[in-house]
Amino acid sequence: MNQYLSDHVHLSDDGTAVIILDQTQLPCRTEYRTLRTAREMFDAIQQLQVRGAPAIGICAAYDLYVLAQQISAHTTQEFLSLLRQQATFLASSRPTAINLSAALNRMLDTAATQTCIRDMLSALYRECIAIHEEDIAMCRAISEYGLTLIKDGDGILTHCNAGPLATSRYGTALGPLFLGKERGLNFHVFSDETRPLLQGARLTCYELHRAGIDVTLICDNMASLVMKNGWIQVCFVGCDRVAANGDTANKIGTSGIAILAKHYGIPFYVLGPTSTIDLSCKTGDDIPIEQRDANEIKQKFYAEPMAPPEINCYNPAFDVTDHSLISGIVTEYGICRAPYTESLRTAMQQKHAALSGKGRNSL
Ligand code: MRU
Repeated sequence: MNQYLSDHVHLSDDGTAVIILDQTQLPCRTEYRTLRTAREMFDAIQQLQVRGAPAIGICAAYDLYVLAQQISAHTTQEFLSLLRQQATFLASSRPTAINLSAALNRMLDTAATQTCIRDMLSALYRECIAIHEEDIAMCRAISEYGLTLIKDGDGILTHCNAGPLATSRYGTALGPLFLGKERGLNFHVFSDETRPLLQGARLTCYELHRAGIDVTLICDNMASLVMKNGWIQVCFVGCDRVAANGDTANKIGTSGIAILAKHYGIPFYVLGPTSTIDLSCKTGDDIPIEQRDANEIKQKFYAEPMAPPEINCYNPAFDVTDHSLISGIVTEYGICRAPYTESLRTAMQQKHAALSGKGRNSL
């Protein structure tokens, strides 16, 4: 495996803890955290030590397996009830990415298929590994489809971080770039810094630079000029939740990029696995948007406060890009195009068919 595509979330060798690379310390320090308690797991997700929609789903699945072992001395009914409580607690750490609650629900459903705790633990172990392995395969497939959208010499704009750190191995929005580099394609990437938490500067630049990919960091408010200069031929972003009509929640600032791209006639693609599609949300208005601490804007990355301490802040972590601004949604089942109500439903049907063994079963 290439060193820049290593897994950043995994079980400890004895299976009693979850190990994560602490993304809040990057790019300066490579520090790993060992998570054993529900509180540590909640905080790791809430504080973005582990972040990115697929990665928090994978982490939460491992978390629940670790916590399940700690309550295995209870009766079966007590065990299931405690497991549900732990899952509810972990799911409350971040509301927007559907992957978190979806992975936890999948683990709970798995436990409920067994009758004794020993079998439940075995099934939970298999399920969290499966969730991780599926994500690796999905990212790889998305990367292949995404690569068909890049031409030699292109300039590509990306926002936030949807690379290996946020997923598994190749990533989603950055996946085609790693694959393109491996296959000798020439292109140039512009990475938005992504205020206020700087995922683009700290994480995307770190990942792309380590892979030897040609990348330039820009402040979020420079995207319009870079597009006007003719330096961008395509935009690639990730997603945290995609509604049935194609409206897409992603890192705050994404919708602005999409509006600019439309103005300059640049294709704007969302890349994400079907695990991020939530057909129960009819439109983006149904997607809950996380609000975060004001100090992330006023103080976090500064030596001293950069705003009066008492000033009010509005700090939504995500915004919703209207489906009309999206040229395509790249999933592991291909590129969904408008009308998204139909194409996303078809992708989900393919997924369910594959899962039930009737269709493609490699994903
Ligand atoms: O708040 P974050 O850093 O977890 O936000 C992450 C994003 O918005 C990513 O673009 C998204 O999760 C896709 S990751 C493949």
